Amino acid sequence: MKITVIGTGYVGLVSGACFSEFGFEVTCIDKDKKKIDALNKGNPLIYEPGLESLVKKNMKTGRLKFQNSFTDNIKKSQIILIAVGTPTQRNGHANLEHVFDAAKQVAPLLSGYTVVVNKSTVPVGTAKRVFSILKKNQRNADFDVASNPEFLREGSAIEDFMRPNRVVIGVDSLKAKRIMKELYRPLFLIETPIIFTSPQTAELIKYASNAFLATKITFINQIADLCEKSGADVHDVAKSMGLDKRIGDKFLHPGPGFGGSCFPKDNLELAATARALGSPIGLIEEVISFNKSRKKKMARKIILACGNNVKGKKIAILGLTFKPNTDDMRDSPSLDIIPALQKAGAKIQAYDPEGMDQAKGYLRGIKWCNNPYEALDGAEALVFLTEWNQFRALDLKRIKKTLKKPTIIDLRNIYVPEQMKKMGFKYISIGREAV
Ligand code: UDX
Repeated sequence: MKITVIGTGYVGLVSGACFSEFGFEVTCIDKDKKKIDALNKGNPLIYEPGLESLVKKNMKTGRLKFQNSFTDNIKKSQIILIAVGTPTQRNGHANLEHVFDAAKQVAPLLSGYTVVVNKSTVPVGTAKRVFSILKKNQRNADFDVASNPEFLREGSAIEDFMRPNRVVIGVDSLKAKRIMKELYRPLFLIETPIIFTSPQTAELIKYASNAFLATKITFINQIADLCEKSGADVHDVAKSMGLDKRIGDKFLHPGPGFGGSCFPKDNLELAATARALGSPIGLIEEVISFNKSRKKKMARKIILACGNNVKGKKIAILGLTFKPNTDDMRDSPSLDIIPALQKAGAKIQAYDPEGMDQAKGYLRGIKWCNNPYEALDGAEALVFLTEWNQFRALDLKRIKKTLKKPTIIDLRNIYVPEQMKKMGFKYISIGREAV
């Protein structure tokens, strides 16, 4: 079976590479020539563990190709995956112009029965809109539109693709169901649960799943704040809660608030759609506002830890990306926290293993450092914003010697309070001691 994937971002490229790994012939299309030129040299331009080698391996087999235009090869594809960006608009709704543009470009090239699949995260009802755009631009085409949302976490996207908890497919015809079953046969063979439902239900499953995960994170962050008032330990709370199978132990790690290219925008979209349909989801409205204010609150926590004044002080920041094992800076907490510290007069020295190139496009006035210790030089405090593995066993003696003041604000609870205090640090973390 031949597949065309439109869009070579975190979702499109991972999907295209993994489908070619399954043995399908995949052509990935992107209108960004720079991206396609880099991909044709085997460089994915994004950091995702294992992606570069998977792309190179399947290019070598000839199953994975990249091109910068919509050409006739689309006519040979039985499946066309739309995996373009759907960024948030000011009103909270997702911007679907790239999805609709892709549909308009595909329509005249449809020949033979084809399933056009929304892989991008799109609002409930988008499959219907894509169907009418295709119909309008190619009356005689024989096609169906399916919804197949992804549940890939950045940093573990390939693993999440190859061993998903479930595959969700929204179709409204048997023909489309048959083709989609064929597409996911390799996962069916390893007994992955494959859920067939309507397109609009599949669309809502994606938003509901992300919103629930974001709610879990917000919940434990609010509990962490209560722990800081009551002297309880949020890790013991989370661990004991998680032992209850009905709750589950994942996504109960407190931190500076969630970021990334999905949770923030998907929650805004779900809240906007729910309001527009007259069924507002108050819980998600609270998640959105709490998460937004949390990032500012974290800046205040840092300033307080520095004697409530950072004017003219150097602050070392370790970790800029929204989570470890990615170079993605979208909606990262650092994009709110660092400007707030700078506004209060702090001088920022920062290091991140993968995110600095992207960070330079968002942040100004930063001293970009080449390793964690360089960032500490002359700093009055060290702040951990992202829990990269390489920050878990730093030379604490060297840190103490290099910092101007032995103050650490650990917003990811990488270290243990007792151990840090024993070493003479003023150690502030999240939800583990009364503040
Ligand atoms: C998320 C969903 O997990 C994935 O299923 C969906 O397809 C895309 O969005 P991703 O955004 O890549 O994936 O990262 P994720 O690991 O979910 O983390 C999102 C944010 O939540 C990060 O900022 C992370 O630091 C934060 N987080 C996560 C917490 O603060 N606490 C947690 O326990 C888990």
